[in-house]
Amino acid sequence: MSSIAVVGTGYVGLTTAASMASLGHSVVGIDIDADKVAKLTAAEVPILEPGLTELVRDGLRQGHLRFSTDHAEAAHVEFVFLCLPTPPAENGRADLTYLLDAARTLSPHLKADTVVINKSTVPVGSCARVQRELGRQDVFVVSNPEFLREGHAVQDCLQPDRLVIGSDDEAAAIRVFSLYRGVVTPLVVTDPATAELTKYAANAFLATKLSFVNSIAAICEEVGADIGDVVLGLGHDKRIGAEFLRPGPGWGGSCFPKDTRALDAIARDAGYDFTLLRETIAVNDEQKHRVVDKVRRLLDGPLEGARIAVWGLTFKAGTDDLRESPSLAVIAELVAAGADVHAHDPTVDPGTDLSRATGIAAVGPDALTIHKDALDAADGAQALVVMTEWDDYRWIDPAELVERMAAPGVVDTRNLLNRSSLARAGCRLLSTGRA
Ligand SMILES: NC(=O)c1ccc[n+]([C@@H]2O[C@H](COP(=O)([O-])OP(=O)(O)OC[C@H]3O[C@@H](n4cnc5c(N)ncnc54)[C@H](O)[C@@H]3O)[C@@H](O)[C@H]2O)c1
Repeated sequence: MSSIAVVGTGYVGLTTAASMASLGHSVVGIDIDADKVAKLTAAEVPILEPGLTELVRDGLRQGHLRFSTDHAEAAHVEFVFLCLPTPPAENGRADLTYLLDAARTLSPHLKADTVVINKSTVPVGSCARVQRELGRQDVFVVSNPEFLREGHAVQDCLQPDRLVIGSDDEAAAIRVFSLYRGVVTPLVVTDPATAELTKYAANAFLATKLSFVNSIAAICEEVGADIGDVVLGLGHDKRIGAEFLRPGPGWGGSCFPKDTRALDAIARDAGYDFTLLRETIAVNDEQKHRVVDKVRRLLDGPLEGARIAVWGLTFKAGTDDLRESPSLAVIAELVAAGADVHAHDPTVDPGTDLSRATGIAAVGPDALTIHKDALDAADGAQALVVMTEWDDYRWIDPAELVERMAAPGVVDTRNLLNRSSLARAGCRLLSTGRA
């Protein structure tokens, strides 16, 4: 079994560290966030990810996993995974500051023949940039992009759809593959540029699929077709596939928005005008305005001064990640129009300050209240918007909901609630992709 350092213990890094430990490797997770390291050392997992807490606890108990703030720990390992943020910079390009800073810090500590494996999502040429930043010709830099989905991170890490390893050195690629012993999955071994581009292509394709289905849903609403059945008919076609065809309020999260913008920038730099991708992004921006338009349609009066309930703040169910969540964008637009927003999310505590994340700090920092209970958020509301497909909302009694609201009307962006039960309770409903 091998010795590994995982640098960055966020969604990707922590899952990688715990998964590698579960495969029997000896792993140290390194992070600059001392508070996070202290929590992880005490087996407290600061993110919501099914199965991750158990995996971390097992790793700690068995002595295969530990955490540190000291990059010098990488001096004792054969492999270093880089799982660092690559946020958007100007013009949508990925900001490599975190990655390159970490490379510089690690450089003096690495043993000869160490394999540095980049799991962050990075533009083509980043392996070479990391190699230059390390300033070490005696270590190998390999691309091994991560495809995990938040909410399924452990499963995706241990049972991935495929592994992509990009390396100019075949022996280094084989060494990286050896770490995944016990993981049965197709393997693509290629050069670093191809591996790096594959990750962006995957995310851009999935985002395009979602924007496409959201466009079809918009047409359904106008022509009286039902998106649920359209998607069934589409999904049975093996050439299309049933995954990633659920309409909603628009895609978000920490990856798709930044990765689509980054790929557009990569294309621009390469002299290719990726109009299809920019339309995918534009359709997604429009999708959030469409949600607010529906709220307007439900109200008898103006949005200004109206009390609006929002169920769901995370960008999808099963995660506590609020980054680039469509819900926050919709709330920002509602608040900018003068609405008083009362929200609920099972992963967000009342009192959490989202005024910065929503961008409402300047326009109305007090216009958003977060409740512990979903029905309390709906109290006295003139409209309710269901933004995240949390199962909890599905089981709320429509009669009680109608009772609590001032004017019972729901914009169900996820088609989560039961249509006929709501109708029976006397609630107006605007779904997605249904007349
Ligand atoms: N989150 C996802 O679903 C996902 C999926 C696939 C790929 N990715 C990619 O993986 C990368 C990491 O994403 P994430 O969501 O895990 O990020 P994250 O923000 O959750 O975690 C990053 C961690 O790196 C730490 N860090 C920053 N600088 C450091 C340094 N110099 N040394 C040590 N630690 C440092 C931070 O404290 C943080 O804990 C990004 O490139 C992202 O695009 C993310």
